Amino acid sequence: MSLFRYTRAGQGPRAPRRHSPLPWIALIALILGGITLGFAWLAGWVGHRLTAQRFTDTIEATGPAHPGFRRAHSKGVCVSGWFAPSAQAPTLSSARVFSQARVPVLGRLSIGGGDPHGADGSARVRSIALQLVSDDGQEWRMAMNSFPFFAVPTAEAFFEQTQAQVPDPATGKPDPQKMAAVLAKYPSAQAFQQWARTAPWTDSWANTRFNSVNSFWFTNAQGQRRAVRWQWQPRTPVAELDADARKRADVDFLSQDLQRRLAAGPVQWDLVVSIAEPGDAIDDPSVPWPDARETVVAGVLSLERMQSQEQGACGELNFDPLILPSGIRGSDDPILAARSAVYSQSFNRRERERAAGAAAQPKEAAR
Ligand code: HEM
Repeated sequence: MSLFRYTRAGQGPRAPRRHSPLPWIALIALILGGITLGFAWLAGWVGHRLTAQRFTDTIEATGPAHPGFRRAHSKGVCVSGWFAPSAQAPTLSSARVFSQARVPVLGRLSIGGGDPHGADGSARVRSIALQLVSDDGQEWRMAMNSFPFFAVPTAEAFFEQTQAQVPDPATGKPDPQKMAAVLAKYPSAQAFQQWARTAPWTDSWANTRFNSVNSFWFTNAQGQRRAVRWQWQPRTPVAELDADARKRADVDFLSQDLQRRLAAGPVQWDLVVSIAEPGDAIDDPSVPWPDARETVVAGVLSLERMQSQEQGACGELNFDPLILPSGIRGSDDPILAARSAVYSQSFNRRERERAAGAAAQPKEAAR
């Protein structure tokens, strides 16, 4: 078929009709503009949206920089050992970690706060992070704290709380009015302060109980799905440390204590899983579940060795609580998704700094 069209016989070919390129240019500009806006929105450059970057920037602004270290729970040690599931564990979840006789564990014990050389005696919050790798290559990563519930219900609320901790340039200290406003807005933050004031301080990581706080879904081989929270219940008897003893204690007493205990044998915790009942807060970690919930002891953790976080393998691990094996799923708790995104930011930043030579230094070298 000819590329030319004829109007009337004998008049010869008519010149091709010229289409204006303007609509096409406008369409392409619109698409490109949309893509740019989309990226800008995702990056949080428009609308001042809460992003993982903005959250991490704000956490960084709460204290001095420590390149190469985690932006939170910066002081810690690497640990390793085993998890052995109980006979009841497979009734909860089909996850391979619950049916394999012994699962290797890599972990990290830490204290709250952003100072990698802070005093153990002043850390109200203690933590454990674990990576369980089963023989089919699946992983269960988790990071838990000694507090029994989270201070606030949402990521935005935690962001507000973090903002309130940023020092005021005029005084060099956080503005107490900002924290008072957060406490007035979130009753759970007041309950958290009450816990921090009154809960006993134990004298060791080994006798500290660690709580998942966030909820997860366990599905067993029969397809039965249940919302759960868990805690690592220490087998080491509780011994308290009063305020005077904490002041006198060595800045690194927790790792010194652990070293002594491990020299004598493994340190153990039971995995105690609580099962939700209808009406329990599944997507809000600031609401504790009643103590009367049905519990199942799903296994025992035995830690056998420790290493510094500078030398051990945990230093370069991101204990993202949403890295889960089949048989375990995260709930819709918005804090879980926020944690996953912010940990990844923190991990990328510290890894970049380490690659650039700002490797996390042992305390002596860093001083
Ligand atoms: C939106 C809420 C939260 C934010 C923004 C947040 C932020 C962070 C950041 C930035 C890190 C450092 C991650 C890394 O560099 O690998 C971290 C570590 C940690 N967080 Fe959170 N966190 C939140 C909630 C929680 C909750 C609810 C828990 C426990 C119940 C928790 C427990 C931990 C623990 C144990 C670590 C240390 C993990 C390790 O040893 O690598 N966090 N958090």
